[in-house]
Amino acid sequence: MNLIKSKKRVSDHGEVFTPPWLVEKMLDLVKGETERIDARFLEPACGSGNFLVPVLQRKLAAVELKFGKSDFEKRHYSLLALMCTYGVELLPDNIAECRTNLLEILVDYMKIDESDDLYKAASYVLSQNLVHGDAMTMRAQAGQPISFAEWGYLGKGKYQRRDFRFDVLTGSSAFSAEDSLFAHLGKHEIFLPIKIYSPMSMRDLAGAFVGDAPGGV
Ligand SMILES: C[S@@+](CC[C@H](N)C(=O)[O-])C[C@H]1O[C@@H](n2cnc3c(N)ncnc32)[C@H](O)[C@@H]1O
Repeated sequence: MNLIKSKKRVSDHGEVFTPPWLVEKMLDLVKGETERIDARFLEPACGSGNFLVPVLQRKLAAVELKFGKSDFEKRHYSLLALMCTYGVELLPDNIAECRTNLLEILVDYMKIDESDDLYKAASYVLSQNLVHGDAMTMRAQAGQPISFAEWGYLGKGKYQRRDFRFDVLTGSSAFSAEDSLFAHLGKHEIFLPIKIYSPMSMRDLAGAFVGDAPGGV
């Protein structure tokens, strides 16, 4: 496996990919979390998904164990697994590859094609969760602050979405430090969502998808 694409990209962007054996070892350090369907993972320099792909594979293995016998639950929890997988990446080809790679994992597992609502909903989720932007400045490609969707599954086919700003979320440790001015405040007072959506079905999410390829969203 090639761990670099070009020497120029290594010197310009520090682009050296982590080999799969090392990724697996690192993920094993948080094995329980990787096998929890709704544990949220964010890779702030995700490349083409060397970490996010095996994270999703582990989550889908958990979906199979828990919900493999019910097609309805399997579809909805496999989408939830994807919803809990996040990334930021500076380079456009990498973020496009990352979205494609994650979608492929879901497609192979669920045996779906482009016409399926799950495929379209997953493409939409990937367009939201995998951000083309700069994790250092916490701004997306067009310059706006990065925000992330917190997805939850309410059951009976409905999902809840609330959006939070990345820069506010990363301030979490500073706010809760003992000597912080804000230490007396509960987290709910600081981490207010910037947007709350009405519950949505897979069909609603599929309808929000525009475009024909995850890289092109
Ligand atoms: C060392 S590679 C690691 C890729 C992947 N995480 C892995 O372990 O295989 C670093 C990646 O971070 C991206 N990158 C560099 N600076 C970044 C920044 N400020 N924000 C987001 N991504 C960045 C590069 O384009 C590259 O894909």
